[in-house]
Amino acid sequence: MLHRIQMNHLSVGFNGEEVLRDLSFYVPVGKMFAIIGPNGAGKSTLLKVLLGLIRPQAGEMVIEGDGKPVIGYVPQSRPIDEETPIAAKDFITLGLTSHLLPWLTRAERSKLKEIMEFTDTEMLAKKPIGRLSGGERQRVFLAQALIREPDLLLLDESTANLDPGAQEEMMRLVFRICEKRGVTVIFISHDLAQVATYADQVLLLARGKYVQGGAADLLSDQQLLAEYYQHEPVDAAQKATLESAQRQAMFH
Ligand SMILES: Nc1ncnc2c1ncn2[C@@H]1O[C@H](COP(=O)(O)OP(=O)(O)OP(=O)(O)O)[C@@H](O)[C@H]1O
Ligand SMILES: [Mg+2]
Repeated sequence: MLHRIQMNHLSVGFNGEEVLRDLSFYVPVGKMFAIIGPNGAGKSTLLKVLLGLIRPQAGEMVIEGDGKPVIGYVPQSRPIDEETPIAAKDFITLGLTSHLLPWLTRAERSKLKEIMEFTDTEMLAKKPIGRLSGGERQRVFLAQALIREPDLLLLDESTANLDPGAQEEMMRLVFRICEKRGVTVIFISHDLAQVATYADQVLLLARGKYVQGGAADLLSDQQLLAEYYQHEPVDAAQKATLESAQRQAMFH
């Protein structure tokens, strides 16, 4: 269980070029938190900072919980050779945090079964990972992240390339994990309607600037979105967003 996620004055650059500058924000624990912004804004970089894969040049990162927080991560793109000789089931078990023995313990087997049922990956168990469709592969990646029983789940555009039905299904799964198990979810998405439907808080990021706010407020501020995205398609996205926000308001 996490208690606090807070970033203070983070700065990250590559080869002298600044990507994130003096970035401070907090993530409400046990909620869905979205990171949005144009290509190249530094969204994936920020997730890698949270994972400890990139060390910021300045700033402080606080992720506090009972014991060492477990993080599950589904990266933006993970090219896999079609011939990779690893079955989906074995790929999922790679996510286990304490998998020391060459065989699975009874507890691990039961965890695997539960996660595969939950992510609807049972019938993929024996299929080589490289032969799965894009949508099937995403469910397997999610299963691999979930089998660790993470306190914090990081998703980098994990529904991009999925058909609308599969996108909805995946987000519903993630939403259930958040609600039922109190997992804090940070997801990156370019689909503002999806963000409006599922996110509680949003961090809007562009090179050198950022703003954090409640999803409904921030996503209905057309001027703000136009300023950050700096191009036209925001209008169409905005329309979908508003419809979705209205739909969501009806559910609550
Ligand atoms: N390891 C690296 N070395 C050098 N530059 C990098 C590295 N990682 C990222 N960058 C640069 O940092 C900037 C931000 O990249 P990042 O992948 O975080 O963007 P993003 O917001 O995730 O974009 P997208 O929406 O396209 O996925 C880009 O200009 C990218 O080229
Ligand atoms: Mg990215």
